[in-house]
Amino acid sequence: MAEKDVAADAPSGVSRRNFIKGVIASGAAVSSAGYLWRASTLSGQQPSAPGSVERLITLNVNGRDRRVDVLKQETLATTLRYKLGLTGTKIGCDRAECGACTVLVDGVPRYSCSTLTHTMRGRKIVTIEGLAAADGKLHPVQQGVIDEQGFQCAFCMSGFIMATVGFLKTNPNPTRMELAHGISGNLCRCQDYDKILTALMCGAENLRKA
Ligand code: FES
Ligand code: FES
Repeated sequence: MAEKDVAADAPSGVSRRNFIKGVIASGAAVSSAGYLWRASTLSGQQPSAPGSVERLITLNVNGRDRRVDVLKQETLATTLRYKLGLTGTKIGCDRAECGACTVLVDGVPRYSCSTLTHTMRGRKIVTIEGLAAADGKLHPVQQGVIDEQGFQCAFCMSGFIMATVGFLKTNPNPTRMELAHGISGNLCRCQDYDKILTALMCGAENLRKA
């Protein structure tokens, strides 16, 4: 799926640092209203399309139970972005190759584009929007990205951050090479890997200090 370059939308007069900070804090802050597929059957106002298979399920996302109407073949990335409005999760390849759609499922990084939403019942899902503290304080890995200005267009950023947060649960003090290997399932089409790694290593250090 083609995706708009978010950096290109930065209004003039807004510094790059502040723009990235805004994006990183909440991908959903960019109005998702236009993307939302309203779960019409939640309100019972519209009937299901003939022949379709729809089911109302509860997903635990970012600590909240969310009721959502999910098609049998629907992927988690689709549900998160287009039904729950959590557009911080990106869809790049949509075929388990780039990692842009990475979220945490029970603390483990997972490609949401290749995960059927129906299999997520009873699991705890965390997206980039769920990383910051309730008071708005960014997660240490997010702060590391801001400190080091680690991305160019930032399309891949959410996926890299989620993969790193998951990896650091298993190895909180990695070498640069270990971290590179740990997040090797994520690709950056801007190919800014050296800077990304520097930022994520900074994030790892922030986390150890936190
Ligand atoms: S969009 Fe899921 S791996 Fe690329
Ligand atoms: S895809 Fe542009 S910074 Fe990674």
